[in-house]
Amino acid sequence: MTDQELHLLLEDMSLQEKIDQLLQLTADFYGKTDRDVVTGPASELGISMEDIDLAGSVLNGTGAKALMQIQDAYMDRHPHHIPLLFMMDVIHGYRTIFPAPIAQGASFDPEISKRAASVAARETSAAGIHVVFSPMVDLVRDPRWGRVMESTGEDPYLNSRFAAAQIHGFQGDDMKEDGKVCGCIKHFAGYGGAEAGREYNTVQVSEHTFREYYLPSYEAGIKAGAGMVMTSFNTVNDIPATINQKLMRQMLREEMGFDGVLISDYAAILETVAHGASSDKKDAAHKALLAGVDIDMMTGCYAGELAKLVKEGTIPESLIDESVLRILQLKNQLGLFEHPHKDADPEKEARYILCPEHRALAREAAAASCVLLKNDKVLPIRPSQKVAFIGPYIDNYEICSSWAVTGHPEDSVTIRQAAKELLPDSDLTFCHGTTLLPRDHVFAGFAEPNRAEEFYADVFADPEKALADAVAAAKAADVVILCLGEHYLQTGEATSRTELSLPENQMELFCAVKTVNPNVAVVLFNGHPLLLDELSRNAAAILQAWLPGTEGGHAILDLLTGTKNPSGKLPMTFPRNMGQIPIYYNHFSTGRPLTGTDPQRFVSKYTDTPNTPLFPFGYGLSYAEFSYSDVSLSSDSLTSEDSITASVQLKNTGACTGTEVVQLYIQDVAASTVRPVRELKGFTRITLTPGETQTVSFRISEAELSFHRADGSYGTEPGAFRVWIGGSSATENGTGFTLR
Ligand code: BGC
Repeated sequence: MTDQELHLLLEDMSLQEKIDQLLQLTADFYGKTDRDVVTGPASELGISMEDIDLAGSVLNGTGAKALMQIQDAYMDRHPHHIPLLFMMDVIHGYRTIFPAPIAQGASFDPEISKRAASVAARETSAAGIHVVFSPMVDLVRDPRWGRVMESTGEDPYLNSRFAAAQIHGFQGDDMKEDGKVCGCIKHFAGYGGAEAGREYNTVQVSEHTFREYYLPSYEAGIKAGAGMVMTSFNTVNDIPATINQKLMRQMLREEMGFDGVLISDYAAILETVAHGASSDKKDAAHKALLAGVDIDMMTGCYAGELAKLVKEGTIPESLIDESVLRILQLKNQLGLFEHPHKDADPEKEARYILCPEHRALAREAAAASCVLLKNDKVLPIRPSQKVAFIGPYIDNYEICSSWAVTGHPEDSVTIRQAAKELLPDSDLTFCHGTTLLPRDHVFAGFAEPNRAEEFYADVFADPEKALADAVAAAKAADVVILCLGEHYLQTGEATSRTELSLPENQMELFCAVKTVNPNVAVVLFNGHPLLLDELSRNAAAILQAWLPGTEGGHAILDLLTGTKNPSGKLPMTFPRNMGQIPIYYNHFSTGRPLTGTDPQRFVSKYTDTPNTPLFPFGYGLSYAEFSYSDVSLSSDSLTSEDSITASVQLKNTGACTGTEVVQLYIQDVAASTVRPVRELKGFTRITLTPGETQTVSFRISEAELSFHRADGSYGTEPGAFRVWIGGSSATENGTGFTLR
């Protein structure tokens, strides 16, 4: 349709038709689909049958055949035959599940995320869906927050690179194209800054901090062309984001230039009443529309109240028209007026889903996401070794995440399956030793089945024997691969925790096994950064495998056997204990910084714990070893018009080929607002054979040195800068230059 045709269509629509375009309902309102997923609270919407009949978009139903039928029936009854938009939470894959976003962040490889998003888009669109609620780009500095696993971590630059990459992967150059979908940047804004890491909690940050650290990743996604943005549940500096006019009208639309569709999060408009910011549904609808929220996800606020507000003259109809036009434009950008089924096709759906090409990429991405945290030469294992695979994760196929809503956990490759397949001639033993969680653990409020009885029947039958078998297997083995971690329902939305240690039963298993065999390599499955102090002191190796997705077992075995070499780096700081939280690498210096190990009294420190984390941001080992030369600069000064190059010679001094993520950090030494002690400004993955050396260079110009200055403007300030190039945020390999 042309723009003019869209305007004519809008003019011809009744007020109710228009308002119903702004309503989004879950798929169960329309009949059964292949997978109807409920991701929010069930409540009485108080809307009419007519509203249901005319609602403009559908949430979380899928399956080409079912959605084509729903579309046809809807368009038949709609007075203007406007197609529905189908939207779904496709967070890290549709049916082929890729590693959780936090794991993808650990790959420091936005290109692989782009390819994963493109595969997800292909499966998703064949299943009849037009919009994915992804990527989530919320910056998070607090590992207590449950949704930490949905984010790519604590760094604005890293998050921005992944936000843009994923939007390109989902949308391509044109969302109309076969196999492309519209992406939705969420949750605008600041959701990851929840106080004390508690889900949905208050966010209080200075405008400077908000602009400097929280906003860049949303902006990067918008610049990449995201067609949609979702509001967040939280307040931002005293006003709920969903009705926050400054946030939505000024920052999002005016400053970032976003002209796509803005959708509320699930029931977020109505929740402004519970926040104490709206007096009732009508007030909430009024405020959300004033803020420019186009679609009301799963409440009756818009459908029930907007017509009244127009009729009594409180809001002009033109405000509703603006929102409707944006929604019609998105439908048009997706080509739905001409092709209401877009790519929905049961034959393609069957062909693409879990096809070998998709599985191969999931395996590659999962291997690239794992982070080797420690290795006392116990890894990789050799086929001639006798290996005991022990722990609750050896047979557990729930290794995707609570946001793999369209995935089927049974599709996943487990550790046992992969070990048997990839080490067919080795002497292997397998035993659980213990369960993932104590038997009486309850997931209060969760509807998902607890498969503990299925996975750990042997342990429940005789816990002492299960432990004794594990100890015997460990004793008889050359090396133990101990697979521990969190249950997948302990991470994701509404799973914030105040304690991030592994459960006691798992640590008891570790101690028992370790007592009889020092060669214990721990493989960790988790979404939160966990407290690993004890493991890091006593395990011979730790491989941080996150929630690796459908091909997790294969990818982990590829790494354990040395077929592939670990290359991931931590996208979040791992604390030593809960008391250090929040802890992040790009913090400010205090006026009394702790320098060196000098135990002065009046400096910024704890009396019972070092200031440093257990594992810093950007940290990760390889089976290869890398040495860095000193940093050399093409010049020790630059102006805001030119650039300099910072280089190192990177050498693989190890015995095998490996990939190193080379990271560039910069500090503005003195400025009108305090600048962090260092900030990531560039990274690149370099693969070297043993003995090989390569020059790795980064360009430094105004873009890397700009910040939000004290007067509110954005730009640089002359003065001294420090620059480091190394393998983690803790590198001391640095030098300095001056901006004139
Ligand atoms: C989540 C969103 C999600 C939405 C729809 C909400 O509870 O916060 O991230 O996209 O549900 O399922």
